Amino acid sequence: MKVLVIGSGGREHALAWKIARSASVEQVIGAPGNPGIASLDKGLCVPVDGMDFAAVKALIEDKDIGLTVVGPEAPLAEGLVDYLSEGGDLVFGPCRQAAQLEGSKAFAKAFMRRHNIPTADYAVFDSAEEAERHVRENGAPIVVKADGLAAGKGVTVAMTEEEAVAAIREAMIGGVFGDAGRRVVLEEYMTGEEASILAFCDGETVVPMASSQDHKPALDGDKGPNTGGMGAYSPAPVVDDETARRVYDEILLPCVRGMAAEGAPYKGVLYAGIMVTERGPRVVEFNVRFGDPETQVVLPRMTSDIVPVLVACARGGLADVPVVYADTPCVTVVMASGGYPGAYEKGKEITGIAEAEREPGVQVFHAGTRMDGGKLVTAGGRVLNVTATGATLPEAITRAYTAVDCIRFDGAHVRRDIGRKALRRLGLA
Ligand code: AMP
Ligand code: GLY
Repeated sequence: MKVLVIGSGGREHALAWKIARSASVEQVIGAPGNPGIASLDKGLCVPVDGMDFAAVKALIEDKDIGLTVVGPEAPLAEGLVDYLSEGGDLVFGPCRQAAQLEGSKAFAKAFMRRHNIPTADYAVFDSAEEAERHVRENGAPIVVKADGLAAGKGVTVAMTEEEAVAAIREAMIGGVFGDAGRRVVLEEYMTGEEASILAFCDGETVVPMASSQDHKPALDGDKGPNTGGMGAYSPAPVVDDETARRVYDEILLPCVRGMAAEGAPYKGVLYAGIMVTERGPRVVEFNVRFGDPETQVVLPRMTSDIVPVLVACARGGLADVPVVYADTPCVTVVMASGGYPGAYEKGKEITGIAEAEREPGVQVFHAGTRMDGGKLVTAGGRVLNVTATGATLPEAITRAYTAVDCIRFDGAHVRRDIGRKALRRLGLA
């Protein structure tokens, strides 16, 4: 079978890499993909944009593609899955209506309230004045979120009322997030440690993947502005067996049952960003796709074939498909362009990946790279995901940073503390 992966980041390289390991797959095509996907033995990239539905459809017909896997949220929110499946194609991902769980925070919050899914209390505002009044009445800390998709950057955790008011004005009056910020959600501030639980879903059955933890702030010690994610590890020790059970019983299953009851059966990956609080796990956000960079640490641990799982999510029958993980921990360190998540330069030559991959257990996923006349150069904020498995978490971390230190490009920025929270929790740091 030929499999199409929509997207061009590190998540898509990890997906294509894992899909290519399936004996049932003869070719993995990235649209538009990246040089990492192109370099896979079974890899091919085609310059097709996932938002151009007709071009995706033409590609599927032209290449005789058997399964399409959608990486990013934007084409899901626009209805790519509906469009392709109405035409009879097998496609992995939620339909447009189900994708609102990520596409609209107001929808997600109301849905959780309807189905008693634990999350922060909230209120939705279309008027900046009323939002400000709510802040004055409720005080800080408080969390301000743009309603729509804002590439992970539409959230301000305000420690003072002034900060909250400034964030409200920027989004609602200044329009910094465009239409995504015309409506804001104000949320109760939750304290605890965060983790990501991704789950395969076929509309009925939910199979959680191994737990993981992202590192969203740009700088060591969780300082600096929020990014798309600077590194991750799996498993996340904060998700003990009891927490995992509660996430399944109180969050994932009610979510999938609720979506089915509301006429939008949830198929694809459901990503629950959770806060492990004193009262148990509570939802910070839902995403309707694989996490980035969580995918880069979860999939290398999966020992079973992913393709039958993806097919079962799209077609049904997930309960009968094995999904197995190795005990070995996995860590990924993001190498980013200097300046990210603010302005940064592109086109810097990258060297040392082959050397890095000679380290045992290391795999380098491309996130924002392109070929420029035979040279590999930077092409995005997050450039590479240097990933390592090890017998223990400290070994995986050491391997990942040894590999990072083999790779060079001008202005490269990495966090040096990926995994430290887990080491502390395990009593190893
Ligand atoms: P989101 O894009 O909704 O995941 O929010 C980005 C980050 O803001 C999260 O990863 C949390 O660190 C933080 N955050 C969001 N909502 C809350 C909340 N209600 N309480 C505390 N922190 C939050
Ligand atoms: N790692 C955060 C996300 O994928 O949204």
